[in-house]
Amino acid sequence: MAPLKSMVASLCALAATVSAVNPVIVQHQQFIDSVTNDRFVIIGVDYQPGGQGAYGATNTADPLSNGTICLRDAALMQELGVNTIRSYNVDPALNHDECASIFNSVGIYMIMDVNSPLSGQSIDRSDPSSSYTTGYLEHIFNVVEAFKFYPNTLGFFAGNEIINDVQTGDANPPYIRAVQRDLKNYISAHADRAIPVGYSAADVRAVLQDSWSYLQCNNSANGDSDSGSDFFGLNSYSWCGSGSNFDTSGYSQLVSIFSNTTIPVFFSEYGCNEPYPRVFDEVLALYGTEMTVFSGGLVYEFTQESSNYGLIQPYSNGTAQLLGDYDTLMSQYNKINVTLLESSNSTATSLTPPACNANLISGDGFSTDFNIPDPPSGAQALISAGVSNAPTGSIVSVTQTSVQLAVYATNGGQLDGLKITPQQGANAPGQNSASVSTGAVPTSTSSAASSSTSGSVGSTASRTSSGSATGSGAAASATSSGAALRVDASLVRNAVAAAAVGAVALVL
Ligand SMILES: *[C@@H]1O[C@H](CO)[C@@H](O)[C@H](O)[C@H]1NC(C)=O
Ligand SMILES: *[C@@H]1O[C@H](CO)[C@@H](O)[C@H](O)[C@H]1NC(C)=O
Ligand SMILES: *[C@@H]1O[C@H](CO)[C@@H](O)[C@H](O)[C@H]1NC(C)=O
Ligand SMILES: *[C@@H]1O[C@H](CO)[C@@H](O)[C@H](O)[C@H]1NC(C)=O
Ligand SMILES: *[C@@H]1O[C@H](CO)[C@@H](O)[C@H](O)[C@H]1NC(C)=O
Ligand SMILES: *[C@@H]1O[C@H](CO)[C@@H](O)[C@H](O)[C@H]1NC(C)=O
Repeated sequence: MAPLKSMVASLCALAATVSAVNPVIVQHQQFIDSVTNDRFVIIGVDYQPGGQGAYGATNTADPLSNGTICLRDAALMQELGVNTIRSYNVDPALNHDECASIFNSVGIYMIMDVNSPLSGQSIDRSDPSSSYTTGYLEHIFNVVEAFKFYPNTLGFFAGNEIINDVQTGDANPPYIRAVQRDLKNYISAHADRAIPVGYSAADVRAVLQDSWSYLQCNNSANGDSDSGSDFFGLNSYSWCGSGSNFDTSGYSQLVSIFSNTTIPVFFSEYGCNEPYPRVFDEVLALYGTEMTVFSGGLVYEFTQESSNYGLIQPYSNGTAQLLGDYDTLMSQYNKINVTLLESSNSTATSLTPPACNANLISGDGFSTDFNIPDPPSGAQALISAGVSNAPTGSIVSVTQTSVQLAVYATNGGQLDGLKITPQQGANAPGQNSASVSTGAVPTSTSSAASSSTSGSVGSTASRTSSGSATGSGAAASATSSGAALRVDASLVRNAVAAAAVGAVALVL
């Protein structure tokens, strides 16, 4: 018994050390696997268990700080077919090594927002100049430090929905480029690879094309060679249910706006939840032949929070219940033709950005100012020297592969044998979906699994009306200006449900 056990353990350790993803690079319109040279298309989910409140002044956790939870979710995501997560609002001072290493071992990349809703940790869209401070930059450089050495760090979002209407398109654009420049300079001085830096835009059609034009153009004529976006994310909730199609959803318009993009464009959030439950028909459009200009997208969002976009319902005791949307999304993902996605388009990788010029901007009132603000006093020294006591993370060996927390399928049965399977390269749909079976469906109504697929799971689930152009409740990594902040019922839930921790079901 013992020898077998230790042999299994060492095999697992061996598997853990060889499994990893290859860093992804940007080549003009596409993400490319830097080793295989295959195109990389994001098949992703937004990941912020606990919602915005997961990281706050009084919290000692963030969405990537608990390896036990990450193992549970990585196993479920590997089965689902996900290759990328986006995490908002992290505390750079916490240790993310276990979570990052677990996701790395199962072929899942991470795109990190560098900002947070805490005071001084984002650009205030109503007053960008006074929030662009050295203290702010120190925070975002610390996030870079925390994540720069993980090979699965795909990129950093310098900002999320800072421009969210015509008015905010005036003063903010130069500051977005300034923050991108500072991040890129910091990465170039202190990381061992050029981790891409980009922006996540609100899908407000009046400013969308201008935002992208402004951020991708080549500003070297103004003595500024490095403030452009390396990629452009778009939070888009315009395809709602089976009544939508490629044209009525506005996807055809998006394809024509971005047909000549010189940087990768993808949905940084998508998945309108009205009607509910979701059918995810947009998945087939996004990954189909008509939208190859897009580099995929991230479904909002993995865990159920107050805005009711979840694929799973996590409980405070660490167990979780799959929701119907998880199964539906998996069946849509399983129809994706990964071969089609991986074939890179040589024409698309030879497009170069146009020179920045006012004639690229069409909207009245949108900034045509390409004089990017200088770094605030002291910031250049910080970029050169690096932040002191940097909270630099690194990959650790992943030895625990079996999920130690109970997870219930939509039919109520407990998943049996749920584990991560270390793999080389990016995860893909259909690779791991056969490894888990569902145990007997409990008959007792007191079971965790008695409520299943509807929006009634979890007392805090309340459906928001969505599908509005701004993504309403989904503006998760909202900047400090109040407009986009939403009340997060998980705060309430955390307060009332005093940690009933323990009693986990071991599935070995
Ligand atoms: C921007 O333009 C300059 C001058 O033409 C050129 O040297 C540089 O390579 C361009 N940068 C990009 C990213 O295309
Ligand atoms: C895309 O760019 C190419 C090369 O610059 C140009 O010939 C073509 O007209 C552009 N197409 C669109 C739709 O802008
Ligand atoms: C991680 O989450 C599990 C499940 O909720 C909990 O039991 C454990 O205490 C957490 N670990 C830490 C370090 O907070
Ligand atoms: C997947 O895409 C490839 C490349 O375009 C194509 O050759 C193949 O026929 C497609 N497979 C299916 C099942 O459609
Ligand atoms: C390749 O990229 C070019 C430039 O974006 C585009 O016009 C063309 O349709 C793409 N071809 C395919 C097969 O996606
Ligand atoms: C965990 O919490 C859920 C929801 O409160 C409950 O239904 C379930 O029985 C609990 N499971 C364990 C193992 O404590």
